[in-house]
Amino acid sequence: MSGQIEKAAALLHAGELVAFPTETVYGLGADASNPEAVSKIFAAKGRPADHPLIVHIPGAEHLERWAREIPETAHALAKAFWPGPLTLILKRQPNVPDAVTGGQDTVGIRVPSHPLALELLHAFGGGIAAPSANRYGHVSPTTAQHVHDELGDAVAMILDGGPCRVGIESTIVDLTGTQAHILRPGMVSAFDLGRVLGRIPDAGGRDSPRVSGSLEAHYAPRTPLALLQPDVVIFAVREALAADQRIGVIAPMACPLSDERIVWRQISGEAAGFAHDIYALLRDLDSLGLARIVVQKPPQNENWRAVNDRLQRAVAGSGAG
Ligand code: TXA
Ligand code: MG
Repeated sequence: MSGQIEKAAALLHAGELVAFPTETVYGLGADASNPEAVSKIFAAKGRPADHPLIVHIPGAEHLERWAREIPETAHALAKAFWPGPLTLILKRQPNVPDAVTGGQDTVGIRVPSHPLALELLHAFGGGIAAPSANRYGHVSPTTAQHVHDELGDAVAMILDGGPCRVGIESTIVDLTGTQAHILRPGMVSAFDLGRVLGRIPDAGGRDSPRVSGSLEAHYAPRTPLALLQPDVVIFAVREALAADQRIGVIAPMACPLSDERIVWRQISGEAAGFAHDIYALLRDLDSLGLARIVVQKPPQNENWRAVNDRLQRAVAGSGAG
């Protein structure tokens, strides 16, 4: 075990906050069995106290410590997708602190696949409660530098595991009802889940504000953001130039114009590549004081569902400061 991991595990045991990489985004971790430690997460993020947190565990064999009445579907999904970007909502064990569950009778659980996250979880030996390591409502961090920029003073330690492989948050599936529901789409798709469940789960059966990721304004940059069809992007750019404004563009094509007032970032035309880069690009453009940011609207199909979900929320919450 490396010294860094040992130190991070000791800090968690001491009730401190440790930011760590997962394959989706960076998490802001605390000992999930320690309500005082968990309360520090809410203070650092500026997040409402009734929004529940995901408990990260080292392996499915820890499920029973946190969840009860675990259905067969949970074991099947865990076997197929853990470690990986899937969170299961299950009935909680009575010992799970209210601070973690927002006082609900359910708990969100996942086994992340990033090697550093797994090392940390094994060294710590328990559950780590962790939301994305950003301020409430802002863009999730996908590098250690992002966490440092946003929460630097508020955390005892930031483990650097490089850029996150997936780039957007885990798929959340609610297994507490008679049928599985997707509460938050992610890169584990409805089809992927359907292959294991024998039935494609529907989206958001219970539209609960308890899922902060389901609030309209979330994952948002401060610069006004628009999602535009490919043929409209270039009109928006010309309009900005006519008004002598600086504009940021995120699109799969190369910049067709040469003008220093245009900050153009090319992004993958594939959903996985797009998800990998979108938060970092939004953060980068958001730091430049541009008049607006335009993102070329991706295809509206199932492959792109999770990406489109995050983009819509980013647009809804953008320009707020
Ligand atoms: O990929 C991820 O899920 C990342 C990494 C760090 O694991 N975490 C993450 O956490 O995105 P956060 O807190 O930013 O989003 C977790 C979502 C929230 O919208 C929360 O409301 C929901 O999970 N959630 C947690 N427990 C829940 C529960 N018992 N019932 C319903 N929703 C729950
Ligand atoms: Mg979040």
